[in-house]
Amino acid sequence: SSMSSTELSNLIDDAQRYLEQQKDLFGNVSYLDHSKKKTMSPQKVSTTVYPDESWVSTKSLDEMEKHICTCLKCPLGHTRLNFVFGVGNPRSKVMFIGEAPGAEEDAQGKPFVGRAGQLLNKIIEAVEMKREDVYICNILKCRPPNNREPLPSEMEHCTPYLSRQIELVKPQFIICLGRTAAQWLLKTHESLNALRGKVYEYQSTKLIVTYHPAALLRNPNWKRPVWEDMKMFKKFYDEINS
Ligand code: URA
Repeated sequence: SSMSSTELSNLIDDAQRYLEQQKDLFGNVSYLDHSKKKTMSPQKVSTTVYPDESWVSTKSLDEMEKHICTCLKCPLGHTRLNFVFGVGNPRSKVMFIGEAPGAEEDAQGKPFVGRAGQLLNKIIEAVEMKREDVYICNILKCRPPNNREPLPSEMEHCTPYLSRQIELVKPQFIICLGRTAAQWLLKTHESLNALRGKVYEYQSTKLIVTYHPAALLRNPNWKRPVWEDMKMFKKFYDEINS
């Protein structure tokens, strides 16, 4: 069906507002994928901000990844080497959520494959699970330059992807790694030490918070609290699954 002039005018207003907001947030960087324009005839120049919304109705993690791995919704899409979607059992009862890919993750396109990842593997094994049995991803799918902390605007753009991953995996438990991810998901500014040791709800899923493995590499004093958090997790997990 064709569009009324009011609908068209509203659409143009929306697009204009969106682009102005992007400019406020990120400065004078273009969010349109100009590489695509070269292959299009002038009459068909697309104003789509990638990706289009078709990923929303995808029915599997693999299918979803294919739709969003070219994302350019925020500037990190222009500096990443690889989009880091997530790995593991697509029907896992446990989902680990980190902050953002680092250099090694960016290079390999997989989450937690660097030094922090090796420690995460040990943390998973400490509760008699295996890396392949759980699902692992991050709030941000692209690496922030120089591993700086994710910006709220970047997390805002990326969180719909995480939400859909949670919907598709349907884990019983989310284990949130580190302050940045925890404060973002729980919409709080409380310290990590104040947040840990409790069970929260996020998207109707039990969520537990613990220190980030990278923080443990810097401060081994946090190994004991992480062990306690994982034991608490395992107790609840066993109660539900035995
Ligand atoms: N740190 C994170 O938060 N995520 C990774 O994937 C690697 C390091």
